[in-house]
Amino acid sequence: TTDGHIEILGRLHPTDSATNVSPTIVSKTTRRLHLQRNHPINILKRRIESHFRDYAVMDSMDPVVTVHQNFDSLLFTPDHPGRAATDTYYVNTNTVLRTHTSAHQSDVLKTRKADGYLLTADVYRRDEIDVSHYPVFHQMEGIRTFDKKKIEEEAKVDSETSAIQGAVLSESNPIQPAHTTREAQLVDLHLRHSLEGMVRDLFREEKDLQIRWIEAYFPFTSPSWEMEVFYRGNWLELLGCGVMQQEILDKSGNSDRIGWAFGLGLERIAMVMFDIPDIRLFWSTDDRFISQFSSGQIVKFQPFSKYPACYKDISFWCSETFHDNDFAEVVRDVAGDLAENVELIDQFQHPKTKRTSRCFRINYRSMDRTFTNEEVDRIQDQVRQVTKERLGVELR
Ligand code: PHE
Repeated sequence: TTDGHIEILGRLHPTDSATNVSPTIVSKTTRRLHLQRNHPINILKRRIESHFRDYAVMDSMDPVVTVHQNFDSLLFTPDHPGRAATDTYYVNTNTVLRTHTSAHQSDVLKTRKADGYLLTADVYRRDEIDVSHYPVFHQMEGIRTFDKKKIEEEAKVDSETSAIQGAVLSESNPIQPAHTTREAQLVDLHLRHSLEGMVRDLFREEKDLQIRWIEAYFPFTSPSWEMEVFYRGNWLELLGCGVMQQEILDKSGNSDRIGWAFGLGLERIAMVMFDIPDIRLFWSTDDRFISQFSSGQIVKFQPFSKYPACYKDISFWCSETFHDNDFAEVVRDVAGDLAENVELIDQFQHPKTKRTSRCFRINYRSMDRTFTNEEVDRIQDQVRQVTKERLGVELR
């Protein structure tokens, strides 16, 4: 930041009391892993794009969006928890780093009236630290709309190949009043049929891949679903989707149309398809990582040796406003990708003062080298220092 401004991708944005983006986070905006030729995220993106052949491809939208784009335009209520500063990176009161690709729905729909599109982008969320969470990740959003008058032909699917079970109608996952049951069922079936086809294509190596649909809730779709696949003994959540809220289509000049939307996390899928054990690896510039994918094919990652881990505990009396994600952010700023995992291992409340004490265990491990004890001690000291200064806690 310089003089009350912060520069992101060459543009200056005023800062204010809501600003909580850090230089570490801003530095990630230039990476755009989905556009880096033959990066696993790029390979997966192209694989899905070639499955949805007729869909337009968008992949260069600016990550800085308004609060209106990210939340209001998608019908998030004013008190929705997703808006909280503990979960979202605010550039300033009115501006955020997008938390999902859905932030672009309304704008894109204003210009693209017909057909479907896929939009891939880096998204930003304040979160915990472990091998499957990183404050920046990549999503692909897919939208498909239909002419309401031609819905019977346009949304028709080959029901022979569709193994979709379960009723659409449910009180907790309703059809919208703006839609007839028939319209909603056709769009819902087309959505799930399309996504099953895509996932079976992606996981074509797995014979008899099991897929299940879990009722979900998103402010901008109804009915809504999450798709899970059974992979190596676990149900794995791959994506969220649903029939678009008609209000969003109406407001973007598409009141004659009806549509569906999905959003999937590319890292989540890439980790299983490429056997990548730690989400930090995607950010590695180490040739031992990058060079493994130069064929542009989906290949299994051959881990280079795992370097030793070293854990350090930190305990403190919390302030009233303390949030775990704020502590994770301190660790990210100080230790960067050397922090593999941060775990809350103990907490208790003082019976008299009612203050709570928390103890976190930080697991340090480099992905590409061994580091010395002194190095870790120095980082831990700095974590303690910054935690005290920034979070107003009392170290123990
Ligand atoms: N944007 C949602 C998320 O990030 C995913 C989603 C996209 C759900 C489109 C429904 C429709 O969780």
